[in-house]
Amino acid sequence: MKTRITELFGIQHPIIQGGMHYVGFAELAAAVSNAGGLGIITGLTQKTPTLLAEEIAKCRALTDKPFGVNLTFLPTVSSPDYPGYIRAIIDGGVKVVETAGNNPQKWLPMLHEASVKVIHKCTSVRHSVKAQAIGCDAVSVDGFECGGHPGEDDIPNFILLPRAADELKIPFAASGGMADGRSLVAALALGAEGMNMGTRFIATKEAPVHQNVKDAIVAASELDTRLVMRPLRNTERVLRNAAVDRLLEKEKALGAKLKFEDIIDEVAGVYPKIMLEGAMDAGAWSCGMVAGLIHDIPTVQELIDRIMAEAEALIGQRLARFAAA
Ligand SMILES: Cc1cc2nc3c(=O)[nH]c(=O)nc-3n(C[C@H](O)[C@H](O)[C@H](O)COP(=O)(O)O)c2cc1C
Repeated sequence: MKTRITELFGIQHPIIQGGMHYVGFAELAAAVSNAGGLGIITGLTQKTPTLLAEEIAKCRALTDKPFGVNLTFLPTVSSPDYPGYIRAIIDGGVKVVETAGNNPQKWLPMLHEASVKVIHKCTSVRHSVKAQAIGCDAVSVDGFECGGHPGEDDIPNFILLPRAADELKIPFAASGGMADGRSLVAALALGAEGMNMGTRFIATKEAPVHQNVKDAIVAASELDTRLVMRPLRNTERVLRNAAVDRLLEKEKALGAKLKFEDIIDEVAGVYPKIMLEGAMDAGAWSCGMVAGLIHDIPTVQELIDRIMAEAEALIGQRLARFAAA
């Protein structure tokens, strides 16, 4: 399947694995790229630019296909060494960067000069249009369904994607709630040229996270996510657990007076405990509503092959039948 997204990134299938904190290590990124998609290493999970350079080298040893690095610009207390991370990306020969969280304009000249393509993840049409205006090569349009930070507008993909299609000239990937061939065909129908998946890729054999995390996703339904940190305007969609219930009670009790310090136990530094140690109630961790569509833990190759076979059958048979009628 050729789309402007496959052409832009030099990949076989229009499927991207979004950056995920403590999930997007070299093993997963390489598995996705080897299966014909675009794997992405999560930059900030590596604590220093040197560690990111090592992770890039590790990924390069596992695949000769293109892969990317995610750079998330989130409100953090002490700003990470972004110039150092960008240097590691450029020196490591990585040709795709997924930016997210904040406007990447400041970093675009450096990246473009090194022939790095930039796909910016946006949760609204206005941010997508802005990303296009400042020179991003593509965007990922992340709907309200998504795991992680859906923004504050709460527009689901059935509205957000066609709205983005109406406004954008650059290609975009549909993100949030994507799981299978049906998702891909729907995304294409709504104007996207590929899809970006987070949660679905965690429940794969190669995802280097604790088995408890994969089992929790398989066990969860579409009813099991919650939105946290809305009062801080830093909304995150997470899987419900004991820590999330506690956090939501604090949000209710404190109302507009809530401060980040009030919920620090539930959100700060919890990812290694959950993803690496499998301590499932250690805190709030991102998970999409798409958990309701995830029932197994295939290899990445099996997953991507299945998506592409299903998408081709849907287009060639089911949709073709309607067109002929
Ligand atoms: C566990 C987890 C961690 C994530 N961490 C990040 C991150 O560090 N940076 C980022 O830009 N997006 C992050 N995301 C968002 C994903 O890249 C992707 O946009 C999102 O998962 C898509 O929605 P889906 O889960 O419904 O597929 C994370 C998502 C999950 C599930």
